[in-house]
Amino acid sequence: MSDLLEGRTAVVTGAASGIGRAIARRYAEEGADVVVADIRKEPRLGGPPTHERIQAETDADAVYCECDVREIDDLRAAVEAADEFGGVDTMVNNAGVTGPIGPSHEASVEEYEAVRATVLDGTFYGSKVAASKMIADETDGVILNIASSAGVEAFGGLTPYSAVKGGVRLLTYGMAADLGPEIRVNAVLPGLIETAISKKDTGMIGSPVEEKLRESTPLGRIGCPNDVADAAVFLTSGMSGYISGESLLVDGGLTNTD
Ligand code: NAI
Repeated sequence: MSDLLEGRTAVVTGAASGIGRAIARRYAEEGADVVVADIRKEPRLGGPPTHERIQAETDADAVYCECDVREIDDLRAAVEAADEFGGVDTMVNNAGVTGPIGPSHEASVEEYEAVRATVLDGTFYGSKVAASKMIADETDGVILNIASSAGVEAFGGLTPYSAVKGGVRLLTYGMAADLGPEIRVNAVLPGLIETAISKKDTGMIGSPVEEKLRESTPLGRIGCPNDVADAAVFLTSGMSGYISGESLLVDGGLTNTD
């Protein structure tokens, strides 16, 4: 496409599937080498593993690193894997799960802890480890968190998810204040995006909720992973050099207008 990320090296968590896969691919198209950090290698909706696709279809390099973001040592290993390409300068905390669906008081402690550990702890660990490495390497670093519009408005039924995604938003603002001027920290807040989460886990895609959301969305459609990937390129490239502590809704205009 172009070379907005030429010479950069990104670690993208949850990049085997969905939004993370699209971000990894768009980064490679823009010239960045990528560490695909995920608990699984195969995409949840099928197709070749992300790193193989990048190697086959772009001029960039990519490697898969088995990584459970609930484990800080796994994130350390993912960040170290980027040394092969010159060291991490872009960290994308994307890995996520939706957690319990239904009335919050019926969620088990284990279900609550699982979504908190992946989404909130995983984002904190990834940011902490990457920021420490960027500072030690005196790298011009960028951190991007994939939060959610559900972390801005809580509509019930996904309350633990909303709560931890709201936490990711505040983590973004706080870390931007802590880490400037060396490191920029921003977040993308996607609305409903067509991936395995929305098709298989919440079942929103293909349900009456999808149609209702489509009708209420000013731009008249459900989002696709590349909509988020384009925003990710913007927020981690030189195009956003004076933007930090910002969260960008990518939801077709739904939030605050419905
Ligand atoms: P997905 O299910 O297609 O992909 C998520 C990826 O994360 C999978 O490859 C999975 O293996 C990986 N993952 C899960 N737990 C992990 C762990 N503990 N360690 C490492 N990797 C792990 O889902 P999608 O939709 O691409 O989600 C990506 C992010 O976008 C998540 O943080 C999600 O909450 C967020 N998001 C998604 C929306 C949607 O409608 N699809 C809306 C708003 C936010």
